[in-house]
Amino acid sequence: MGFAIAVDGPAASGKGTIAVKLGALYGYPVLDSGLLYRAVGMKVLGQGGDLADEAAATAAARSLEPSELEGPVVRTRAAGEAASRVAIYTPVRRVLRDFQRDFALQEPGAVIDGRDIGTVIAPDAPAKLYVTATPEARAMRRWKQLVGQGETVTYEDILADIHTRDARDSARADSPMVAAPDAVLLDTTEMTIDAAFDAARRIVEAARSRWETAKG
Ligand code: DC
Repeated sequence: MGFAIAVDGPAASGKGTIAVKLGALYGYPVLDSGLLYRAVGMKVLGQGGDLADEAAATAAARSLEPSELEGPVVRTRAAGEAASRVAIYTPVRRVLRDFQRDFALQEPGAVIDGRDIGTVIAPDAPAKLYVTATPEARAMRRWKQLVGQGETVTYEDILADIHTRDARDSARADSPMVAAPDAVLLDTTEMTIDAAFDAARRIVEAARSRWETAKG
């Protein structure tokens, strides 16, 4: 296993930005695992299917192609909602698990952000962060991002989405959103992006020193 960096946390906590910056710092590939679930949800909807249909979601996950993770559609509000609905299905999670594990374990290292990376996908990852912020701070960030992408939404709608998503992601029977016992918590509510990245970098550097010492 290389130096795997697991960056978990709720929607719009800043984990994606932190993951990308850590990847650039170390020269490691970065996987936004939420994109996998977003692409599965949008594929079901694109085929005229129902997000309540577990078999359709599982088939969509099995036939997922890398090209389906690209483009603006998977970044929309609707995709986030669809993702959290298909993410409750155990067969969907199982289909997506191996790909994520292989990605996390690659040499010389990798960064993955998601909900269950430090708990399920790469429980032995040498560096684990759990990035949080208040629902209000997260809603404000997500609202600005979506408006910047041209969506017409209100802050109140996005705050309601965040509460719904948090409840659904936390109540999931399979791999619920929870910090790994050995993850370092990083609350970014009062932080700028630069300050949050700086804090994350220091946490990961400490983990890297321990990992290198343990490797000998
Ligand atoms: O991080 P995101 O907003 O792109 O994630 C969208 C949804 O996908 C999230 O509400 C739950 C699901 N998800 C998951 O269950 N496990 C992951 N590792 C990543 C995302």
